[in-house]
Amino acid sequence: MTDTILALDGLTVRYPVRQGLGWREITALHPTDLDIARGETLAVVGESGSGKTTLGRAMLRLVEPSGGAIRYGGTDLVQLAPRRLRALRPRFQMIFQDPYSSLNPRRRIGAMLDDVLAHVGVPASERVARARALITSVGLDTDALERLPSAFSGGQRQRIAIARALATEPQIIVADEPVSALDVSIQAQVVNLLIDLKRERGLTLVFISHDLGIVSAIADRIAVMYFGEIVELAPAGPLAANPAHPYSAMLLRATPRPDVAAARETIRLATAAPSADLPSQLDPPAGCPFRSRCPRATGRCAAEAPRLMPMPQGGLAACHNPLPANATHDERGLVTT
Ligand SMILES: Nc1ncnc2c1ncn2[C@@H]1O[C@H](COP(=O)(O)OP(=O)(O)O)[C@@H](O)[C@H]1O
Ligand code: SF4
Ligand SMILES: [Mg+2]
Repeated sequence: MTDTILALDGLTVRYPVRQGLGWREITALHPTDLDIARGETLAVVGESGSGKTTLGRAMLRLVEPSGGAIRYGGTDLVQLAPRRLRALRPRFQMIFQDPYSSLNPRRRIGAMLDDVLAHVGVPASERVARARALITSVGLDTDALERLPSAFSGGQRQRIAIARALATEPQIIVADEPVSALDVSIQAQVVNLLIDLKRERGLTLVFISHDLGIVSAIADRIAVMYFGEIVELAPAGPLAANPAHPYSAMLLRATPRPDVAAARETIRLATAAPSADLPSQLDPPAGCPFRSRCPRATGRCAAEAPRLMPMPQGGLAACHNPLPANATHDERGLVTT
């Protein structure tokens, strides 16, 4: 039996957006059920604008959900009073994409770690040793404690951000595209560091990425998001080898490969601006939101929104006409001519 650390039950997020002179609401996260197992690495993938950050922040109640529950032990984080929520905060940490803006430029690394350690009640007499241990655990020298963030490269700053996140001894870390802003040549080092630390400390990691290639190597399970919904949720190996949802197959096609067309597609999917191919949040389509891009769409897809259902591949997918478990390369669109 798996031990669930966090259970999302119909978690929903709507944002107010300006339209003309008035305001409208968009649904950035449709009601989502998701059980996160203690100690797992769950990857969340999808194009820019698919709702990954919203899901990652909402599960830690860093954005106010519009509905649903977040069960953590015996409590629902959505219902929790602010004071009790603040007391739990150190157990959850978030690591952000941009290591440049997430560190205070005027605070030396040692002082910054000291602030965090003090905040979680580590006695002053132990804080220097703890800060040294933290900084060495992320592969930096203790000299780093004397320096300002500007002294470090992007990769080193992300290591510092990881050290800061670990300072509160969290149980869950949500890492939101932690290497997307880094040079490709150092991405793997930072990802490996995060995975090693996660294993050593028995943490639960939610790793958000637009790169299905990276996550299929590190995740236990993958949640694929499209237009504010999880459209496929499956163990990483089977999903990468045998996706059920046509959108997962499309993302796999777009993972870095030597050929130029695939590389271009990867870059397009990775750009910060939401894809022009995504439907409008202000005018959501009926039926399946992936319909306009789906090579497998049928009449039913226009009429009825698919729900997550068990697939023969072993996971869940929201699709009326999923890929079969033994799909050919041709069916998955993996043949390039
Ligand atoms: N604070 C906000 N106010 C209004 N709309 C937002 C806000 N944050 C995100 N959105 C919208 O919600 C959708 C999902 O965004 P986001 O969760 O950032 O996706 P991702 O992380 O996958 O790129 C997008 O359509 C985005 O424009
Ligand atoms: S429900 Fe239909 S349109 Fe949507 S992904 Fe499945 S086959 Fe494609
Ligand atoms: Mg995001």
